[in-house]
Amino acid sequence: MGKKIFCRWSLLSFLILILTWAPGLELSAQEVHLDVPYVPTPYEVIEEMLRFAELKKGDILYDLGCGDGRIVIEAAKRAGIMAVGIDIDPQRIKESRENARRAGVENLVEFRRQDIFEADFSEATVVTMYLLPNVNLRLRPTILSSLKPGTRIISHSFDMDNWKPEKMTYVAADLYAHTVYLWIVPANISGIWDWKMNLNKKNTRCQMEVEQEFQYLSGQLQLDDLTIPIPETKIYGDKIEFEVQTPGQKSVNLKFTGQVQGEWITGTVAITTGQKNSNQSWKALRRPGTARSIER
Ligand SMILES: C[S@@+](CC[C@H](N)C(=O)[O-])C[C@H]1O[C@@H](n2cnc3c(N)ncnc32)[C@H](O)[C@@H]1O
Repeated sequence: MGKKIFCRWSLLSFLILILTWAPGLELSAQEVHLDVPYVPTPYEVIEEMLRFAELKKGDILYDLGCGDGRIVIEAAKRAGIMAVGIDIDPQRIKESRENARRAGVENLVEFRRQDIFEADFSEATVVTMYLLPNVNLRLRPTILSSLKPGTRIISHSFDMDNWKPEKMTYVAADLYAHTVYLWIVPANISGIWDWKMNLNKKNTRCQMEVEQEFQYLSGQLQLDDLTIPIPETKIYGDKIEFEVQTPGQKSVNLKFTGQVQGEWITGTVAITTGQKNSNQSWKALRRPGTARSIER
């Protein structure tokens, strides 16, 4: 924890120093309003960020505030994927385009001179950022509501306040321990869901009421008149999994797995009654107007 605070404050003071002292950057900051000064990510840190990203064919990476384009160019070079850099500073966009040409990846990358708060990056499957805590927080609602579930968000140095990361690590570079964070955008499955299932040879009315904070879920399942709590669980992108047990001597164990697509969840329930196992499919529909924001 001490290391993390030291690391964050060292970087923050470094960024502030740069803004205060570097005459070139002062000029640049006067010409264009920068929410974050330009400080490039060391290549050792990019290595770890891209390892967290697990890039695969078909991915589209966006670097928000792309600086000289190094993350975008490395992603395109290493994984052959499409990558887009957004920066408000025209000088950075010019450098990025030159660097992409030198690296021979112009056909895979695109650099846009835009404000990250106005840009549309909803097609991204991976988003990288080296911004500041307050800037991450301003982007958080857009990240959670506009990006596809499963999109990987990787941040150098700064976290997302109470949105807990999936992974975190430190990388030594330039005399600092740099922090790298990974979040997976969760589908929002808050609300009330209804479906029917055949349980104990009986057509059973099922209802699930879900409360969600970021990727964490809890709630209750109703099987006709029986109410069972759903233990706290996690949603991973658009995939859910939870297990409940009916009370009493003839207890039934139900293990639900499912995939969320908008207002529908489809999946399989593994049913265990004593020594007997069976599988059944389930398809639940969310009641209109019951979804809530998952940010706290
Ligand atoms: C700390 S640098 C990170 C550069 C690059 N992503 C990297 O990791 O090497 C932050 C970048 O954000 C850009 N920036 C600052 N405010 C911005 C805004 N509102 N919209 C787009 N870019 C912005 C700056 O010009 C700068 O290049």
